[in-house]
Amino acid sequence: MHLSNPTPFPANRPRRLRRDAFTRNLVREHRLSSHDFIYPVFVHEGENRREAVLSMPGVERLSLDLLLDVARECVQLGIPYLALFPAIDPALKTPDGKEAANPDGLIPRVVRALKKECPELGIMTDVALDPYTSHGQDGILDDTGYIINDDTVEMLVAQALAHAAAGVDMVAPSDMMDGRIAAIRDALEAHGHIHTRIMAYSAKYASSFYGPFRDAVGTRGALGKADKNVYQMDPANTDEALREVALDIAEGADMVMVKPGMPYLDVLRRVKDEFKVPTFAYQVSGEYAMLKAAAANGWLDHDAVMLESLLAFKRAGADGILTYFAIDAAKLLRGQ
Ligand code: PBG
Repeated sequence: MHLSNPTPFPANRPRRLRRDAFTRNLVREHRLSSHDFIYPVFVHEGENRREAVLSMPGVERLSLDLLLDVARECVQLGIPYLALFPAIDPALKTPDGKEAANPDGLIPRVVRALKKECPELGIMTDVALDPYTSHGQDGILDDTGYIINDDTVEMLVAQALAHAAAGVDMVAPSDMMDGRIAAIRDALEAHGHIHTRIMAYSAKYASSFYGPFRDAVGTRGALGKADKNVYQMDPANTDEALREVALDIAEGADMVMVKPGMPYLDVLRRVKDEFKVPTFAYQVSGEYAMLKAAAANGWLDHDAVMLESLLAFKRAGADGILTYFAIDAAKLLRGQ
């Protein structure tokens, strides 16, 4: 019957490859693994102290003793790196944020302890002044409120050196000042820290998706209605992202990052295609909060959207992802 008609069948049947799980497994182009994740954590002073971050369900600020347990869990799960963010005692915040460069400040102490207790876990630290400034900006202000680039870079260099001296494996400048990668790289070399890696927040946009993070580190109040548009990138631009990445690579970055994540997958793809260096995406606090809120309402399936969102970064070209889901996703992947 069919033979009498030469055209009743589709010439191709792509569904053949989707028919069963074993074939889908065989032809899958991208895979997630716990090795893809960097887990951002919030640390504060004290002992046995945990505080929930209300806009980031499941995320807490932890004291060092509690963070050590998290570090050990990461090692067990195969998560290669922790990214440390401090919630600083407000009494230590100043207009110039100089506590950032204190060699005995919270972050250097936490780095030393983590590297001592858990040497097999990579530790990355944020280089930026916002957790330490009384105004919540990432730099030092002039009389008009403009962020002074070169004075800020000097402070960032001191901060990076304090972290390197404490033994951090990787520093991640997230401030978006001009020329900071070169200045930090020079200083690291000059002080013999030749192994300290730099992951540059190269294409970091002035995004409204950072709100919950600012709750976590306690800068939202200080920042008030102010924005970061005079140093972070305009969300309308992508060519500019390529220029920023090119500069950071030329200045000595080992790895680059695009941030935020899911709304900027096009930028991630362009960066990876153009430069072919280790390229990371940051699934930021607001992205996490959206998925958590929808899942809490029963509007989305938590585990399914978590894994789908993370896989999307791999598909778009990311070599790895900073994600607050790292532990949950690694546990789920272990079971698969
Ligand atoms: C600070 C910094 C921010 C984030 C990482 N480092 C916030 C900001 O730039 O205001 C955001 C991370 C997130 O939202 O998860 N320089």
